[in-house]
Amino acid sequence: MGGKLGTIFARVGHGVIFSYSHSKAKLEKLARDAGGQARAGTPAEAAQDADALLLAVHWSRVDDVLKKAGDLSSKVIVSCSLPMNANDTGLVIANTSSGSEDLAKKVAKAHVVSAFNTVPSEVLFSVFERKGKGTPPSVVYCGDNAKAKKVTAQLITDVGFEPIDAGPLRIARYTEPFTMLVGQLAYEGDRGPAMAYRFEWFEERG
Ligand SMILES: NC(=O)c1ccc[n+]([C@@H]2O[C@H](COP(=O)([O-])OP(=O)(O)OC[C@H]3O[C@@H](n4cnc5c(N)ncnc54)[C@H](OP(=O)(O)O)[C@@H]3O)[C@@H](O)[C@H]2O)c1
Repeated sequence: MGGKLGTIFARVGHGVIFSYSHSKAKLEKLARDAGGQARAGTPAEAAQDADALLLAVHWSRVDDVLKKAGDLSSKVIVSCSLPMNANDTGLVIANTSSGSEDLAKKVAKAHVVSAFNTVPSEVLFSVFERKGKGTPPSVVYCGDNAKAKKVTAQLITDVGFEPIDAGPLRIARYTEPFTMLVGQLAYEGDRGPAMAYRFEWFEERG
């Protein structure tokens, strides 16, 4: 998710720092391939002057990457991370809370927005390629800070999705389990994982 979204953000002109990998060479290659103003760095370097941070790590790595990122006070954190168990078969937080709310408690001074976690990474480049042509697919997002949500909506638009504001961060209790349905269709269905969804509103008829 981080590699693909970072590449797209670089291609639309954002300055991007790819960070957090076992391999510095992998991050450097990602930055070279993305072009623009992309570069590789540490999580602390990525966090330092960023207008937005994309959190795209496995749930088991969240504490580690947050520690490496350092002080995140007043930062916008766009999280696509899902609170999945070790073998990615189920959510470890659900119903009465969500991964995004748990994250917001860990970084209480940052502004967490939950976004991009309801679409498979395999569709991102195709959506970006089709941007501006035809009706865009949706991406739901939620958060408690209006400015952080505005930044997130722009990033969602940059990729080629229509951002759907689902409300406050606690709505991640519903968007995160929805991702399990998307995952089922993407990875267990017979049409492949390059899929997205679209919400539409109609005029109500008697
Ligand atoms: N993939 C999807 O389609 C999708 C969709 C929706 C939501 N999500 C969620 O998004 C998050 C990211 O998923 P992903 O599929 O993008 O994961 P991923 O491909 O495994 O990427 C995770 C990143 O974390 C790095 N990393 C892992 N362990 C590390 C360690 N010990 N030290 C340093 N770096 C480490 C990886 O580096 P290395 O490559 O070097 O290991 C990689 O750069 C997850 O929470 C997932 O549930 C994923």
